[in-house]
This record gives sequence, structure tokens and C-alpha cells, in this order.
Amino acid sequence: MVWQEQEKTVIGTDGLAGQAEALLSGQQDLVANAANLSALLFHSLENVSWVGFYFEKNGELVVGPFQGKPACVTIPMGKGVCGTAAETGKIQRIADVHEFEGHIACDAASKSELVLPVIKNGRLLGVLDLDSPVKNRFSSRDELLMKEILEIFINSLG
Ligand code: SME
Repeated sequence: MVWQEQEKTVIGTDGLAGQAEALLSGQQDLVANAANLSALLFHSLENVSWVGFYFEKNGELVVGPFQGKPACVTIPMGKGVCGTAAETGKIQRIADVHEFEGHIACDAASKSELVLPVIKNGRLLGVLDLDSPVKNRFSSRDELLMKEILEIFINSLG
């Protein structure tokens, strides 16, 4: 029996925040909600090859729930796009990752990236990372939508 690779069917972003709210409400578990949110975003967004979380553990980032190909397991604080978002607490929206000094190429196909720090009550929990095989994939509108959805995720944790 040969495994038939399937193309991703993109759901689209209409009502995405509402779907995230419905999916995460009533559950406070970090891993459960990070896993479901990664899946929702991966299947809703076009031209996205990796969506997932890195969590802060003992001063570095460790990969958490995600959708996409296997990824780098740990990322030092301040390194790459993820480590920069974690260290500065600022969203990184990178149109061309090959021009980002210190970019960590987990997947050679990745061309643009959006990374949001996950901060609850002033404490860094980790980052939400979205990768695209298309240059300049993420608009300021995407950034705002992901910020809104991340807020829903953070509030769901109780
Ligand atoms: N490219 C990221 C590493 C994580 S992966 O893309 C999943 C970075 O530079 O931080």
C-alpha cells in the first residue's frame, strides 16, 4: 500500500478568530490548546508550511505542538527569528528570512516568517511561529489577526 500524499485544503480566514474562541474555550491545558490552535491555523491559512509553538524552558526555546515538517528542537534565546521575538518581546514579521541575520533554517523551503511572543501576565511562555514557502507572505493584516487569535489562546489558559 502506497501512502498517497494529500494536498492541504485551505479553509480561509473568515471567522477564524471566532473558530479559535470556540475551539479553545472550556479548556485550559497549554499543550491541548497549543496543539488545536496550530492545527486550526495550519489548515486555515494559505501558503503556510509550518505553524506551531516553541515554549521557554530553562532559558531556551523548546519545540511544542506544531503542524508541518519536523523542526529544530531547541533555539537559544536571541537566536533566529523565534529567539529574537522571545528575547525582545516584539513580533517579528520577516518578508525574506534569508535577509534576516541569524535566521535558523529548519526547513530550506521557508522564505518568510511571522513570529509572535506568547506573554501571559508579563511572563514569557514562548512563541507562536508561522512559516511560509512564499516571500512576503504575511501582511500587517495577518499580523493583527494572529495577535487577536493569540490573545484568545493566552486568555484560554486561565
Ligand atoms: N526559522 C526559525 C526556526 C524555527 S522553524 O522555522 C520551525 C527561526 O529562525 O527562528
